[in-house]
Amino acid sequence: MKVLLLENIHPIAVQQLEERGFEVELRAGSLSEAELVEALADVRILGIRSNTHVTERVLDAAPQLEVIGCFCIGTNQVDLNAAAARGIGVFNAPYSNTRSVVELVIGEIIALARRLPEKSQRMHDGVWDKSAKGSHEVRGRTIGIVGYGNIGTQLSNVAEAMGMRVVFYDTADRPAHGNARRMGSLEELLAVADVVTLHVDGRPGNAGLFGAEQFAAMKPRSMFINASRGMVVDDVSLRDHLLSGHIAGAALDVFPVEPKAQGEGFESVLRGIDNVILTPHVGGSTQEAQAEIGWFVAGKLTGFTLEGNTSLSVNLPTVMTPPLETGHRLGFLHHNVPGVLARFNAVFAEHEDNVTGQHLTTSGSLGYVVTDASEPLPADALAELRSWDECLWARTW
Ligand SMILES: NC(=O)c1ccc[n+]([C@@H]2O[C@H](COP(=O)([O-])OP(=O)(O)OC[C@H]3O[C@@H](n4cnc5c(N)ncnc54)[C@H](O)[C@@H]3O)[C@@H](O)[C@H]2O)c1
Repeated sequence: MKVLLLENIHPIAVQQLEERGFEVELRAGSLSEAELVEALADVRILGIRSNTHVTERVLDAAPQLEVIGCFCIGTNQVDLNAAAARGIGVFNAPYSNTRSVVELVIGEIIALARRLPEKSQRMHDGVWDKSAKGSHEVRGRTIGIVGYGNIGTQLSNVAEAMGMRVVFYDTADRPAHGNARRMGSLEELLAVADVVTLHVDGRPGNAGLFGAEQFAAMKPRSMFINASRGMVVDDVSLRDHLLSGHIAGAALDVFPVEPKAQGEGFESVLRGIDNVILTPHVGGSTQEAQAEIGWFVAGKLTGFTLEGNTSLSVNLPTVMTPPLETGHRLGFLHHNVPGVLARFNAVFAEHEDNVTGQHLTTSGSLGYVVTDASEPLPADALAELRSWDECLWARTW
C-alpha cells in the first residue's frame, strides 16, 4: 500500500507505518494542487500538515486514495465533505499538544507573578532593579480555569501539584480533578481567582466571552491568560484594565487577528504594556507535540486501513472497532437510507454466515457498519454489495 507523506512529518510516523508493512514515500515540502493531481494517482494514504490543500479536484485525481492524515490540529486545508462523499476518511491529532499548552501556561503564571517580563526588560536596558515589590509565589494562590476540557483538566492537575488552589468553570458537566472546586458561574470564579486562564473551545457563542464586564469582575491585581482562541477576548478592554492597574499582568498566545505568514508584521493594542507576555500562537508548538502528533495520526491511519477503525475521524461516521483476533471483518460505508442495514444483514443470513459482532454508526448522510463473521462472504456476495447504489465501499480484513 503506497503512502505519501508531505511537509516533513515526524520520523516516528514513518517508522510506525513501515513497521506495519507500508511503503512510504517522503517529501519535505507541500505540493500545489497541480502537483498533487500528478502525485496521487497510485497513493492510498496521504499524510499532510497545514500547508497542503486537498481540494475536490485533487480528490478526483486520486482514485486509490482511502485516507488522509492531517499531522496537525486543524483540518480546514482538506475539503472534508468532498472527501466523505468519496468515502475517504480524514484524521487529525486534536489533543496531542495538550501538555505543551499546559506547560506554557504554568511558565507564564510564574513569570507574571514574579513580573519577569519587565524585570528582564529592565536588565536588557541596563538597569539593576533588585526589589521584591509586586513579586509573589504562586503557592497557595488560586487559579481559575475557564473551560475544563483536555487542557483545562491537565492544567488543573499540574497547578495543584505546585500548591495552587484550583477552581474551574465549565458550561458542561465536568468532574473535578484532585481537590479542584467547580464554580457555579463565571462570576463566582472571577470573584475568587488570582489568575484567570481561558481554555474554552472555539464555538461561535464564545466570541467576546471576556470583555469589560468580566475584567472588572476580576480581583484587583489578578492576572489573566488566554491560550485558547483570540476571538474570545476583547483586547481593548484588557489593555484598559492593564493600564489602570486593575489587572497586574497578562499572557496572550492567541489574537483576534493573527498574521498568516511567517515573518509578517504583528499588530495588537497590547504591544508595549508592562508585564504582558505576547507569544505567536506557540502554545502547542513543541518538538514533543510534533512527535506525539506523528505517533497518534500514524496510528489512526493504520487502524483505518488495517482494521476499518474510524474512531475520531473528522468526516466519516465513527466506529471504534475491537481488534480483529479471529474470524473475518467486513466494513461497509454506505448512504444513510432506510432499509440498508436489513438488506445488508440478509446477505449474511442468506449465506449462513454467523455474525459474531457488529458495530454501526450513522452521521448525516453516511452510515458505517463493521461486521465480524465466522466466514468471509463469498466473492459474488461481496460483488453484489459493492454494486448497490447505497455503497461507497465494502472492504474486508
Ligand atoms: N495556543 C495553542 O497553541 C493551542 C493549542 C491547542 C489548543 N488550543 C485551544 O485551547 C482550547 C481548549 O482546548 P481543549 O483541547 O482543552 O478543548 P476541549 O474541547 O477539550 O475543552 C474545551 C472546554 O471548554 C468548555 N467550554 C466551552 N465554552 C465554554 C464557556 N463559554 N464557558 C465555560 N466553559 C466552556 C467545554 O465544555 C469544554 O469542556 C481550544 O480553543 C483550542 O483550540 C490552543
